[in-house]
Amino acid sequence: MHHVVFSSFHTFNDALISHGLSPKVALLFDRNTHRLFSQHIFQIFHRANIAHSSFVVPASESAKSLRTAERLYGEFIKNGIDRATALVAVGGGVVGDLGGFLAASYLRGIPLVHVPTTLLAMVDSAIGGKVAVNHSLGKNMIGFFYPPNFTFIDVDFLSTLPKRDVYSGLAEAFKYALIQDAPFFHHLESHFEPIISLDRTDIERVVARSVKNKLRIVKKDFKETLGLRALLNFGHTFAHALETLSNYKAFRHGEAVLIGMLCASALSKNLGLLDHDSFTRIAHFAKRFPLSPSLLKRHFFDVAESDLESAMQRDKKTKHGTIHFVLLRRIGEAFLCQEKISSRNIHRAILEAKQILT
Ligand SMILES: NC(=O)c1ccc[n+]([C@@H]2O[C@H](COP(=O)([O-])OP(=O)(O)OC[C@H]3O[C@@H](n4cnc5c(N)ncnc54)[C@H](O)[C@@H]3O)[C@@H](O)[C@H]2O)c1
Ligand SMILES: [Zn+2]
Repeated sequence: MHHVVFSSFHTFNDALISHGLSPKVALLFDRNTHRLFSQHIFQIFHRANIAHSSFVVPASESAKSLRTAERLYGEFIKNGIDRATALVAVGGGVVGDLGGFLAASYLRGIPLVHVPTTLLAMVDSAIGGKVAVNHSLGKNMIGFFYPPNFTFIDVDFLSTLPKRDVYSGLAEAFKYALIQDAPFFHHLESHFEPIISLDRTDIERVVARSVKNKLRIVKKDFKETLGLRALLNFGHTFAHALETLSNYKAFRHGEAVLIGMLCASALSKNLGLLDHDSFTRIAHFAKRFPLSPSLLKRHFFDVAESDLESAMQRDKKTKHGTIHFVLLRRIGEAFLCQEKISSRNIHRAILEAKQILT
């Protein structure tokens, strides 16, 4: 369970064999990853005698839907996709989540391989076995815990990734550092530029360290029943509220998470948990991410604190009206807070994050 292979895509066939899978795959792309990578992948598959068919979905969050799934079930049946065929999802979190959902449900489950091509997918969504589609009433509402047979990471896929998505993925790496890996935070601070410019050694290190951090949690609490996996939601209560209020169209996921982590850190400081210097360090790091001023103004600064709080109340992780925040005791140590936080404190933390990002 939870196998991650770090290698050049040229060795993909070896990974298939060593994981006991047949050389027969259904490739799932979005329009962008199809345009960018399908030829390269087909060539490698031809050379390795891997039989393959391809399926393409739009490059947008809206593809993570039952509607798209329904269409693809039909295409799978027509193309004779059987239980010996591995679904190989080539793309970011959207393709990974949708592909995982299809693999978990089609024929009661077929093999699944994630080939993440965004930094966010490499450090987060292709690791840990959560797959889902969205419902009109909520994101990721219908899904499974369905770990892939393996996740195949080749950082060469990142070379075409827009900078905005590089920063977005880095925000999730920053999250691991804050919740449980203080030395990693130090590393991110001192290697920020080479990481962002995708220097090979640096980006490989960030991906490997993030994967290790996520697996450490997921292996102990796969189904999120012990409160440990919940730590991965650091910053996400605020982030989901920002994303919901902007209909998932304004922010890249990591951008919302970055803002959310700043709010959660301010909250931790104001509650007397996190010391002031650590908070300043976090704020300083967050300010190195180039968030668009107009995006911030429209979808964060101009949003009332009380509206964000109401959106958080509606979050699926909110139990009996109490929002359970993940807070920091120090950099590298997070915990799930059981106590109710007052509106005043929530508003104050959001306001402080706004001031820092202004
Ligand atoms: N399952 C999980 O545990 C988990 C965790 C975090 C996020 N997610 C989900 O992940 C999704 C967000 O993932 P994402 O940020 O990867 O978004 P995404 O999949 O939408 O990818 C972002 C954009 O980059 C394009 N792209 C992908 N690879 C590229 C490349 N190498 N070069 C150029 N363009 C490329 C895509 O076509 C898309 O337009 C959300 O739906 C979120 O809910 C899931
Ligand atoms: Zn996230």
